[in-house]
Amino acid sequence: VDPTRDLPPSPGPERPIKLIEVRARGRFGTVWKAQLHDKLVAVKKFPLQDRHSWTTEQDIYRLPHMNHENILKFIGTERRGDNLSLELWLITEFHQNGSLCEYLKGNTITLSELIKMAGSMARGLAFLHDEIPALGDKAAKPAVAHRDFKSKNVLINTDLSCCIADFGLALKFEPGKNPGETHGLVGTRRYMAPEVLEGAISFNRDAFLRIDMYACGMVLWELLARCTATDASVGEYQLPYEEEVGQHPTLEDMQELVVINKVRPAIKEHWLKHTECWDHDAEARLSADCVLERVNQVERNMLT
Ligand code: ADE
Repeated sequence: VDPTRDLPPSPGPERPIKLIEVRARGRFGTVWKAQLHDKLVAVKKFPLQDRHSWTTEQDIYRLPHMNHENILKFIGTERRGDNLSLELWLITEFHQNGSLCEYLKGNTITLSELIKMAGSMARGLAFLHDEIPALGDKAAKPAVAHRDFKSKNVLINTDLSCCIADFGLALKFEPGKNPGETHGLVGTRRYMAPEVLEGAISFNRDAFLRIDMYACGMVLWELLARCTATDASVGEYQLPYEEEVGQHPTLEDMQELVVINKVRPAIKEHWLKHTECWDHDAEARLSADCVLERVNQVERNMLT
């Protein structure tokens, strides 16, 4: 059977893209820094076996209203090569600072930088989660759950505001339509909410959005842990739970830690408290709108 049979139709003529260097390797494919005319772009190359993520990701980027400040800007897709060595490309804007994870490895942040990063990230996630009704000739935007939210999938602009990337696992919830396969155990173990690690099997829209918010809580912790405002001696960058389970936790490690022992990343006494994103009780978790409001509140307090 032709593995390309279920792919979207071949887009127009090839863009004149010059690949420069590999910038990141993800679960699906490799991200290249590339040049298109006089502009740098990012090209994510998906191997043919990951065509489903390539299709899902472009499907999300092409939704109405997705041109948002805090969502990575989509440029287009291409199919390169012939059937035997077909490569699926997804072209987006390029961000010189790379991902939030890379940025925090190399840099500490001030409180005002933390506020800018956390606020823009929450704004992006609130927008993604939001359903926007059809108005006039503008179509509706369904609520979208990311399902692999983590610091590697948040990119940093030159002004240090953030945008959300990597929609290969995302699910859209169109009213009255089945969102498609919705089994729970996808994403990155370290960022999985307890109900996901427990293997709960059926999640509805709100349950998926709350799963994203748990992961958002982990990323807020990563930001706080590298913020110079709270502690004179900020430690080296660490992934969430790295202290507890190291670099390569198994699913069992994460289940024992997060579900059975209900451990969460350590909050130092003097840090800002934001633990309501990772509450065990999914319904008690803050929404992205509430996180944004909290961050705005901290910012207002700073100015007065
Ligand atoms: N890493 C992953 N996506 C990227 C992008 N669009 N720009 C820069 N680095 C990236």
